[in-house]
Amino acid sequence: MKKTVTAIAPVNIALIKYWGKEDEEKVIPYTGSLSLSVSELYTKTTISQTRLGFTFSLNGKRASKEDALKIKTFLKHFAEDHELENISIVSENTGPTASGVASSASGFAALAKAANVFFEKHFSDQVLANITRLGSGSACRSLFSGLVVWEKSGEVYTIREDGLDLIMVFALLTNQKKSISSKQAMRNTVQTSPYYPAWIAKTTQDLVAMKHAIHIEDLKSIGELTQSSALAMHASMLATIPPTLYLTPQSMDLIHAIMDLQTQGEFAYPTMDAGMHVKVLTNQASLEHVLKVLNQHKVKDIVVTHPAKGAHILYEQ
Ligand code: PMV
Repeated sequence: MKKTVTAIAPVNIALIKYWGKEDEEKVIPYTGSLSLSVSELYTKTTISQTRLGFTFSLNGKRASKEDALKIKTFLKHFAEDHELENISIVSENTGPTASGVASSASGFAALAKAANVFFEKHFSDQVLANITRLGSGSACRSLFSGLVVWEKSGEVYTIREDGLDLIMVFALLTNQKKSISSKQAMRNTVQTSPYYPAWIAKTTQDLVAMKHAIHIEDLKSIGELTQSSALAMHASMLATIPPTLYLTPQSMDLIHAIMDLQTQGEFAYPTMDAGMHVKVLTNQASLEHVLKVLNQHKVKDIVVTHPAKGAHILYEQ
């Protein structure tokens, strides 16, 4: 066991969304997905030896017993019970804002990366991905750099690290907590949405199309597939019983305004996850047009991000 290890992991935003588990316990998705690991928003986690028992703090605050237990249970993939007795975990969601944008993905990826070194396990990135997705499905993609595929088979890999002119702009609308967890919303969709079979068929096809678009550097298709995946995911949710409605009037307004930019020839495509925030996939040439629209819509916080490196170790002793 090391004395102290610090790891950092990026937030990732799916261009082809993961929505629904075939096996909840093993976290086997119904379809593969594809994401972009982004700069500026990330989790930094330090694991250290201590004499104070098992402690977990997040953003400077001691976590609840329930959250600490969740983290301790996750760490059993890396350590024996007695090795977890006197361990301190300090996590921070860093960046211009800490409003919880996909922070559980970066959180579990940073924790797994740090634990692998701290407990001297030497697991490969694929084994780490298998463990990490048990914490939060999309977290396995934060282990990898740039454009990342999570196949239905469980395989996770970088399909393209850099060289594509892609920018992801976060338009953060409010600080409200999610009305319903992604886990519950996914379960409702799988069980009650009449559109779920169509979602599986579409996503399976779109993933193939997206890989090809990335391969031939067809930015327009990358944008169109990104927008379509997010809207189809929300469409599948709208039809659940009870309905799952993350979209707010403000998110819809923004989506329309971003789509208007497309008619003016700009590269700007909206995407949304399990919350009301909107993210915009754009490029260097269209960035100022996107920012102008977001400012006109009085977006609370704007974060401009670029493709980033996957989870990695910052410090070990
Ligand atoms: O990782 P989870 O279980 O919170 O699910 C994330 C689901 C979406 O963010 C909506 C889509 C995705 O692929 O990241």
